[in-house]
Amino acid sequence: MAISSTREVPVTGAIPTHVAIVMDGNGRWAHARLLPRTAGHAKGVQSVRRAVETCGAAGVKYLTLFAFSSENWRRPADEVSLLMRLFVQALEREVARLQDQGVRLHVVGDLSAFEPKLQDLIAQAEQKTQHNDQLHLTIAANYGGRWDILQATRALLAARPELVTNPNELDETCLAPYLSMAWAPEPDLFIRTGGEQRMSNFLIWQMAYTELYFTECYWPDFGETELLEAFEWYRTRERRFGRTSAQVHSLATS
Ligand code: IPE
Ligand code: IPE
Ligand code: MG
Repeated sequence: MAISSTREVPVTGAIPTHVAIVMDGNGRWAHARLLPRTAGHAKGVQSVRRAVETCGAAGVKYLTLFAFSSENWRRPADEVSLLMRLFVQALEREVARLQDQGVRLHVVGDLSAFEPKLQDLIAQAEQKTQHNDQLHLTIAANYGGRWDILQATRALLAARPELVTNPNELDETCLAPYLSMAWAPEPDLFIRTGGEQRMSNFLIWQMAYTELYFTECYWPDFGETELLEAFEWYRTRERRFGRTSAQVHSLATS
């Protein structure tokens, strides 16, 4: 179980252990080329492949990608169905490659909203890759950070109904095991492509102390060079977790 970084100061290295990415800008990438938005999503799948390879080679252990937010159902029906088709296609075509690369796949989010075929493919892909541990690739699909906190709260209260009458016993460590990604450490580095500087309801609980990196680059153009640039930026950050800079320095030299 991951311990909240607001409780304990995690050990951090030059390469982020956990990278979380909001893959944004597919539509604008396509628009700039006079292509339909859906062409941007199709192209974006190649960037996913590249990100998995680059992270694996760099020694990242967890890569979490925001593929479809709980708010993305608001998009036009044909765009939503194309996104679902791409998801199905990727699960059908890419699992063998993930196996070769030692990648374990996880999908987090409210999967009950997906059609049964997609739910089955997700379960099969997770099961096939369950013994891999080179890199944990998590796809957040129909995911929302607020949904995650609520589902964790419901599960916690179902398991420990006595908390309702003893609310003071409820603390961060009670809730953490019920969050979607309880098996992973919290993200060290958040990347958002496409120029917007917002979290859009991604891992809002888990990213309390994550370093935030924003780039104008659209997701379909985001390749190895751009990802390594983000890692380089991360390397220069001083992560204090509430302490002073002097404390961080003295720990580093002791
Ligand atoms: C991100 O790209 C992909 C998903 C949300 C599925 P967008 O589709 O949001 O691209 P822009 O922001 O419109 O350019
Ligand atoms: C965030 O991108 C969600 C994903 C990348 C899946 P959006 O493009 O949906 O975010 P907003 O609406 O601009 O905040
Ligand atoms: Mg967008």
